[in-house]
Amino acid sequence: MAKKILVTGGTGYIGSHTVVELQQAGYEAIIVDDLSNSNADVIEGIVKITGIRPIFEKLDCVDFSALKDLFEKYSGIDGIIHFAASKAVGESVQKPLMYYRNNLVSLINLLELMPEFNVKGIVFSSSCTVYGEPNNNPIDENAPIKPAESPYGNTKQINEEVIQDFIHSGASIKSIILRYFNPIGSHPSAEIGELPIGVPQNLVPYITQTGIGIREQLSVFGNDYNTPDGSCIRDFINVVDLAKAHVVAIERMLTDKSDEKVEIFNLGTGKGVSVLELINVFEKVSGKPLNYKIVGRREGDIEQIWANPDKANNVLGWTAKETIEDTVASAWKWQQRLRNRGVM
Ligand code: NAD
Ligand code: WQD
Repeated sequence: MAKKILVTGGTGYIGSHTVVELQQAGYEAIIVDDLSNSNADVIEGIVKITGIRPIFEKLDCVDFSALKDLFEKYSGIDGIIHFAASKAVGESVQKPLMYYRNNLVSLINLLELMPEFNVKGIVFSSSCTVYGEPNNNPIDENAPIKPAESPYGNTKQINEEVIQDFIHSGASIKSIILRYFNPIGSHPSAEIGELPIGVPQNLVPYITQTGIGIREQLSVFGNDYNTPDGSCIRDFINVVDLAKAHVVAIERMLTDKSDEKVEIFNLGTGKGVSVLELINVFEKVSGKPLNYKIVGRREGDIEQIWANPDKANNVLGWTAKETIEDTVASAWKWQQRLRNRGVM
């Protein structure tokens, strides 16, 4: 019988790509999402790719009794991948309580219900934001956690601690904490992808929206950093590669491949790419020049960060495979598909 995986936030950007990979690996995916930052139409994209309709329940993970009802309704859930969270850094500064409530209570509710319903493990979406500005790059999992720059970042740090403390207390569950670097791109079919609501805060959707004419011009936030071309450096990780890591992590937990009750992995490529280099890649794969200008630095930006992914490569047995060119091309194909569909 197929193992059942609860995917919270499964209609979101990374969640939807992960549902596809889970289904293709033979798992049954049960999506819960409150649709606060996604649309139920995403399900149709998943069905087009895999031919399998995942179960979907519109549900707010902050609502304990609704979650409990869900575990009763779909008995035998083996594992959870917990994506559901609010994720806009700037908004979290404006609305800290909303971020703390949503991101902390959702996780606590799930953890509380797991032993009662015999759910074996939870994969948690963390972020390289926990490292702050690294002292050295590439950065590995043993690097110090720095004071969070925003309430959003703080929720990731606190959630990691909540998981550690709960397991330390003897709870009969396992967890794998995945620290993502900068996920970009979309499924090569362009049936699903990143769909930011309003003006994108992140670089790649801003680039593709500028490329297609929704935005007039990209502002590059600073070219006076201490980097080779002066712009910031990130580790851009293909979202399908990232999604595949979740399948490996679930498999590892559910088949007890490790005795460790909590494990932490960086998910990145191991290569740093600057903002200006990424613009060049976009111009190359789209065949069109991008309208951009250099402006001042954005407050709170990290100068440079990229992953040491050795632990994920060697212990998890997962490696990022896609090239930056194919990844940016997938983001561009998705943007064009949205235009053809009349979405934006
Ligand atoms: P997303 O906003 O596309 O997906 C999150 C989904 O969760 C959305 O569909 C939203 O509607 C849903 N959601 C939010 N609160 C909920 C709640 N209380 N109950 C049910 N559903 C809820 O974001 P994403 O980019 O796919 O990110 C997924 C996870 O990965 C998040 O936890 C995010 O913090 C983390 N992460 C993302 C990035 C990134 O750059 N995208 C980087 C590091 C970590
Ligand atoms: C990347 C680079 C910008 C937009 C954020 C969160 C982090 C994580 C990932 C979840 C930076 C530059 C951007 C623009 C630009 N999320 N940029 N013009 O800042 O690495 O991380 O998303 O955990 O927590 O903080 O990603 O895509 O916003 O920016 O020049 O219009 O692109 O300055 O150097 P970032 P990003």
